[in-house]
Amino acid sequence: MVNQHAQRKNEHLSLAEKDYAFNHQNDPFAGIQLIPRALPETDLNMIQTHAKLTDKLEITWPFYLEAMTGGSERAGKINHQLATVAKKYDLAMATGSMSIIFRDDQAKASFTIVRETNPNGIIIANLGASATPQQALAAIDLIQADALEIHLNVAQELIMPEGDREFLWLENLQAIQAAIKVPLIVKEVGSGMSVNDLNQLANAGIQVVNISGRGGTSFPRIENRRNHHRNYHDNLLAWGLTTPQALIESQFRHNAKQQIIASGGITSPLDVIKAGAMGAQAVGVAGYFLHQLIQGGPETLIQEIAEWQAEIPEIMTMLGVSSFDQLKQVGLILDPELYNYQQQRQTQ
Ligand code: FNR
Repeated sequence: MVNQHAQRKNEHLSLAEKDYAFNHQNDPFAGIQLIPRALPETDLNMIQTHAKLTDKLEITWPFYLEAMTGGSERAGKINHQLATVAKKYDLAMATGSMSIIFRDDQAKASFTIVRETNPNGIIIANLGASATPQQALAAIDLIQADALEIHLNVAQELIMPEGDREFLWLENLQAIQAAIKVPLIVKEVGSGMSVNDLNQLANAGIQVVNISGRGGTSFPRIENRRNHHRNYHDNLLAWGLTTPQALIESQFRHNAKQQIIASGGITSPLDVIKAGAMGAQAVGVAGYFLHQLIQGGPETLIQEIAEWQAEIPEIMTMLGVSSFDQLKQVGLILDPELYNYQQQRQTQ
């Protein structure tokens, strides 16, 4: 018998795949054009691809497997497959939300498999923003995590009949940060963050934020399909800021030292580079890699990752940069819609 929480995790996996199929022609990064260099004065063999996830945590590649799953047998199998790929290609990986381990002991195995599979890899634990500091410590301990992600998912909770209704999170985030010894990353789940959010988080001492914007996996759409009691109107299903819009927001943040990670709708090496050029320190990819895995199995995902790891240094070469960090200095042009967004936000 699959319990209610495990059932939800399985539905998320199937519906995320349906959501990918529904959404796959949408490219939120199409509105960004990078300026190439005909004389890059660089050497492909000298390109450094590592990226700073946090001040204390560097990853070998600027993209990583973003938080997806755990908590059911199927989720455990997918985590095993993802962790195998992460190990093979030296990619960091975040687990899906681990809150289920505090209700169901059996769920633990679907997360510990990630560490068992990849004993020396960079693994990031994940919990919701109402987790207690003790729970944060327990989740980190269970998988010997190198960092902890706490997700903010107001839109998703509201549309779930069983979801939270109280969103008084800021003080708790501070308490979690004070309790844990590994870096804390606060992330959205696909609705993006505004400059106000970033400043609030910076004032609370949160130094690393994943703005996870709209344009890829949509939890309002996923929960809407799960939820047979209520339906959001179509225009609400596109709630939030696209990932490029949220990256523009981040350019106006007060604390330039606050590190920004991008995710949401990243489906190619060029998207990774564009996110870097828009100010991201690193990039998380969830729905697209899940799609490769579900459609083609581990072999397809492995081939895809190999291509990304070949193309990323090549694109950096064509742009004349030798490190991911330097991408922030490349020239880029925004399409009229994004440019307009940037101009309006600059004066608000
Ligand atoms: C997610 N995401 C997610 N995020 C999180 O912080 N905790 C979680 O448990 C989950 N669960 C989850 C399940 C599935 C099946 C998917 C596809 C995604 C959100 C994810 O980490 C990311 O923020 C968004 O999906 C946007 O990125 P993509 O999917 O557009 O690359």
